[in-house]
Parts: sequence; structure tokens; C-alpha cells
Amino acid sequence: MGKKNLRISLLGAGTVGSGVWSLLQENADLLYAQTGCRFEVRHVLVRSLDKPRKAPIPTELLTTDAQRAVLDPEVDVVIELLGGLEPARTLIEQALQAGKHVITANKMVMALAGDRLITLASAQKVRLLYEASVAGSLPILTSLQGALAGNRITRVVGIVNSTTNFILRTMEEGLEQGTPAEDSYRIALQKAQELGYAEADPTSDVEGYDAQYKMAILARLAFLQYVPVEAVYREGITHLSGRDMVWAKRLGYGIKLLGTAERLPDGRLNVRVHPTLIPLENPLCVIRGAFSGVWLQGNGFQDMLMHGMAAGARPTASAVVGDLIEVARHPKPLPIPDPSLQPGETAPIESLTFRYFVRAQGTEPALESVRRALGEWGILRLEEDPEAGEFVAFTAPLQEGYFQEQMAKLRAQSGGAIQVIRVLE
Ligand code: NAP
Ligand code: HSE
Repeated sequence: MGKKNLRISLLGAGTVGSGVWSLLQENADLLYAQTGCRFEVRHVLVRSLDKPRKAPIPTELLTTDAQRAVLDPEVDVVIELLGGLEPARTLIEQALQAGKHVITANKMVMALAGDRLITLASAQKVRLLYEASVAGSLPILTSLQGALAGNRITRVVGIVNSTTNFILRTMEEGLEQGTPAEDSYRIALQKAQELGYAEADPTSDVEGYDAQYKMAILARLAFLQYVPVEAVYREGITHLSGRDMVWAKRLGYGIKLLGTAERLPDGRLNVRVHPTLIPLENPLCVIRGAFSGVWLQGNGFQDMLMHGMAAGARPTASAVVGDLIEVARHPKPLPIPDPSLQPGETAPIESLTFRYFVRAQGTEPALESVRRALGEWGILRLEEDPEAGEFVAFTAPLQEGYFQEQMAKLRAQSGGAIQVIRVLE
């Protein structure tokens, strides 16, 4: 860059903003050794000037004036860590228009407005980097655009939301210790919020929106095809019960909220987020707590699993600071159009085939009607618990659209409770 200082506006001093501040101070010498630059924070944008902060940010740097923080001509890089769509999107756009590099951890903005912002950054000849927006400290976006870019990626399967992973694990542990599942769900969500893993509105985590945004970003870079968020199928974890987890474990499976993106044989791309039964011996099953794991398949490297801390102050700050180093080293973007913004066809989940775990609970006549229907479609395994008025089954591979339609009819006819969870192939 030819400068000894890179001047920064930090938008946000919450969990991630405080982590970035601390890492910049603690690793200042290392960052200088890596880049030849000193990183100097000029403004820290917050909502409240009086709020106690997790990092010792000098009060004179704090401001509530977004325009001052974003448009200060002395600032080279704007780091957006506010969260939510607005005002984050507008401030990023203003910063790019003002010729500043932008780094963001905001998956919502990058999934919903990334195409426009990437194009704007390219036109402005500045960098727009967002490694922290997907899987925290894991260098997944950088790898897809760099070291792995020579591979044709065939499938990406990831645990990309830490809050739900933390909740599901805590529910499993709670069940082992006799705690009711609903109590462990509530306790785990509260803990995930205290630890700074959850979004400001945790609905985004538990209903799968956060993972949906991340998968749209990940799929775009893995398959070089623009993926609109609404093309990503989404289910969260709130409909899961402790009984699902008890049965899954008994049958040799764990339950994870998985994001999957894959190129189908007909060339279309399918991207989806939903709870999934995973064999206990699958490497994704050991990914616990605030960790994320992304399992990639490509025609050169074959199989790869990235696994690491993906939420919380310092792991996320690690990715943000990595982007900052990249800006310091390579401030000029390559003058080529971003191939990941190419349109392409996506396939709806209804056209896919899955094996399903089915758990039915109800009166014997209700259970019998479900058993009969499943028998006609093909059952690979059936286990009964007569005392609980319940059975579980694994189906043969079935087409999603047909199967879900039939299950909806069965639910209405039998009056029983029927849970359905897809199984990882
Ligand atoms: P957070 O703890 O809620 O912090 C948000 C910060 O932004 C706060 O300092 C807040 O000010 C400030 N802010 C919010 N809206 C503002 C506005 N309109 N004007 C001025 N300041 C505003 O959020 P976070 O957990 O650090 O997350 C930040 C971003 O990183 C989000 O996009 C999130 O999805 C992403 N991310 C988070 C994690 C994680 O583990 N937490 C991991 C990866 C990515 P006050 O402090 O004064 O309220
Ligand atoms: N709320 C997000 C999660 C933060 O739990 O994964 C990391 O992106």
C-alpha cells in the first residue's frame, strides 16, 4: 500500500467489534511484521456511548455519528460489525462509494445484497472482504477463491451455525443426565447468547435463517453461480424434540442442522438447510459446541473437512483481522468480473430423493395407518416403543415432493404426531 498506517473505522463494538479491537492491540507487532503497516483505529461507531464495553476502547474514539465514521477522508478501511440489514447495507455502500475498502462479518447483508456490493467494490477498485460472515475463523471463503479454486466442487456440507450446534449438543447432554429437553433448549440458548454466539435476534439462528444466508454465500463461491437467498431451502431446529434425539442416538445417529450445496447430475444446483440425522461415526458428528465444520468434495482434493471455532469474539475477530492483512497486502482488486455472480439454475428440494427418519406417536389405529403407508413405500428399519405409543422407521429413498405431500395427508387423516427428519447419505 506504500503507507505505514492503515486507518480504520470500526462500525460496532459488540462481541465481534470488541474482539477485533483486542486482537489489533495484542497482535500489533505481529501485524506489522506481516504487512509493514500499522493499523490505526480512528472511529468506533456504537449506539450508546455509555454502555460498558468488553474491550478497553478509548472513549474519545467512540461515536454515534455514522456519517463521520464512514466518510472521514482520513479513513482507508471500514469494518462493518453492526449486524442486521440496515443501516449496515447502506453504510457499506456509502463507504465503497467513497473509495474505502470494506470488511464485514455480516452474512445477512452479503447474502441479500452481496451481488450489488461486490459489483460496486469492483467498479470502485477497492476490496470488499467478508471471510468472517461464514464459519467464523475457518478460512473457507478465502480457500474457495484461492488454494481450492482449481477444483470443480461437487458438494459442500456444513454445520455453519454454532448456536444451534451448541443447543443440540446441550440438549443431548441434558437428556443423558435426565434434564427435560425443553429445559436444556432454553438453558443452552441463554448460554449461547451470553457467550456472544447468538445473533441479536436468535430467531435467525434457531429458525435457520443465519445458516441460509451462509449457505447462499458459500454455494456462490464454491460453484461460481449466483444463489438468491430465497432459492435456499430452510428449516430450523425448533420443531425437534428430545424424543428425536433419544431415538437417533439409540439407532447410532446424531442430529445436526446441516447446510448442503450440491451440483445435481442435470447441472442444477441445490442448496438447503435442515436438521439431518448423521451416523455417529461421520466426522461431522463430532463437531460440537461453538465449532463449525465444512466438509467439501472436489475433483482434485477429493475430500476435505475444515473444523474450528466459528462464533464468539476472538474466532470471528481472527477472520476479520485476516481480511485486514489481505487489504494491506493487496489493496487493488483483480480487474476481472467476479465469476460467482453468474446466474444459473437451482433445483427445488421437492425434486430431490432422501431417506427419512420417521417418528410417529399416537393411538394404535393412528400408528397402524402410518405403518401401513410406510410399508407400501418401503421401510428399511422399524423400531417400536409400545409403552410410549410410538415407533420410528427409516424409509427407503423417496422423492421429497411426493413423500412430504403424503405425510401431510397422513398427519391430517391419522391425527397422530409424525416427525420427519432427512438422513445424510
Ligand atoms: P453485537 O454484539 O450485537 O454488536 C453490535 C454492535 O453494533 C454494538 O456495538 C452496537 O452498539 C452497534 N450497533 C448496532 N446497530 C447500530 C446502529 N444502528 N448504529 C450504531 N451502532 C450500532 O453483534 P456481534 O455479535 O458483534 O455481531 C456483529 C456482526 O458480526 C453481525 O453481522 C453478526 O452476524 C456477525 N458475526 C457474529 C459472530 C458472533 O459470534 N457474534 C460471528 C460471526 C459473524 P451498542 O454496543 O452501543 O449497542
Ligand atoms: N450466530 C452465529 C452462529 C454467529 O451461531 O453461528 C456466527 O456466525
